[in-house]
Amino acid sequence: MADKYSLTNSATGDCVNLDLVSGTDGPSALDITALYKEKGLLAFDPGFVSTASCTSSITYIDGEKGILRYRGYPIEQLAAKSNFLEVAHLLLYGELPTATELVDFESIIMHHTMIRETMRTFFDGFHYNAHPMAIMIGVTGSMSAFYHDSLDIHNPRHREISAHRMIAKIPTIAAACYKHNVGEPFIYPRNDLDYCGNFLHMMFATPCEEYVPNKTAIEAMNLLFILHADHEQNASTSTVRLAGSSGANPFACIASGIASLWGPAHGGANEAVLKMLEEIGDVSNIPKYIAKAKDKNDPFRLMGFGHRVYRNFDPRATLIREMCHKVLAEISDKDNPLLQLAGELEEVALKDEYFIERKLYPNVDYYSGIIYRALNIPANMFTVMFSIARTVGWVAHWSEMISDPSQRIGRPRQIYVGAKQRDYVPIDKR
Ligand code: CMC
Repeated sequence: MADKYSLTNSATGDCVNLDLVSGTDGPSALDITALYKEKGLLAFDPGFVSTASCTSSITYIDGEKGILRYRGYPIEQLAAKSNFLEVAHLLLYGELPTATELVDFESIIMHHTMIRETMRTFFDGFHYNAHPMAIMIGVTGSMSAFYHDSLDIHNPRHREISAHRMIAKIPTIAAACYKHNVGEPFIYPRNDLDYCGNFLHMMFATPCEEYVPNKTAIEAMNLLFILHADHEQNASTSTVRLAGSSGANPFACIASGIASLWGPAHGGANEAVLKMLEEIGDVSNIPKYIAKAKDKNDPFRLMGFGHRVYRNFDPRATLIREMCHKVLAEISDKDNPLLQLAGELEEVALKDEYFIERKLYPNVDYYSGIIYRALNIPANMFTVMFSIARTVGWVAHWSEMISDPSQRIGRPRQIYVGAKQRDYVPIDKR
């Protein structure tokens, strides 16, 4: 039998018994679904700080201990031993693939990388310097107009086909956004390359000469994609779930996730970190910017610092930091002034009482931008890179939600604080 928890109104003594819902790991939750029906009460939790919106068996995070696991596997093991498509299989199907399953999965994904030829003409409609995330939202949403043969969300096979299409085509769309920005011809995918190698090829090859993706660049991208692949009920994943809860098609849902990811408090942070480091410019300016970040009257925040869930360290940041040094040593410039500045800023912030007290540590995006910069990926593409990886998490969550027969439309309530009823005043009397 489930544990009970009682809430008592201290004034009236009126009491309500609530069930405790427990998972396999992590804190339990109060089941408040009957609260409104039985007591006319709502739960108030702006920012969903204490709200579990669903049960999920995909990703586990312990923010205090800095733990992140996909389907039970520690992120450190996946980062060291796996690759992005294997992790994608794990997130989507719940298990690491056997050798045959992996070959099949890779083949399916790599043989669905092309986008419909008519979709390409969409790009011509965007201004040449449109932000690639703006193009991503539009073109991804448009996929439902091109692939409507797999849109029956109640059909498991349709859901699977849509998931494969999303994972396979999102890098092609992303690279096309970049090519549109720089005015170079669109480069078709190559199915003989792996997922990350193919993406680099679509980004940097031209019809004029042969392009061979760099091995360290592929390794770094695999790591970044693995680390960004899922993060349980973050803003964009919750957006995908909420959009999907109404029965909206998966392509439209993923487009809504991309829109949510774009914000600087979420996936837009990696682009914002680079802009911030460039603005700081020199280590001598660090004290000024630390003071700005601490000033409540200044909207400036140290981008790449802090996390809603991680309160000690972000395990993804530790892994990325190491890769950052490797990439700069092997591909770019190990004396890169931006990296030196980033290292110094991190050190100063970590010793500062304000950051210590609030448990603000570098997050995944503090170093990812520097790696992408070293791979010649422009800053306005950083969040696009994040969205390629997170697409796997989004489709896994969308699929998990739709497969649940008890799934209902998501419909939060509110505490109304506006005007009480009042009568309409004719315009000449206002
Ligand atoms: N710089 C300065 N102060 C900060 C920062 C920061 N980066 N982050 C939080 N604080 C302060 C904040 O002002 C508040 O102080 P006080 O208690 O005095 O009012 C306290 O720390 C708690 O902050 P919060 O805004 O209540 O925390 P939150 O959980 O709502 O926000 C966050 C989390 C990630 C949005 C926030 O830390 C932030 O804006 N960080 C910078 C943006 C960033 O790097 N985002 C990427 C997150 S990781 C990638 C992803 O998963 O999307």
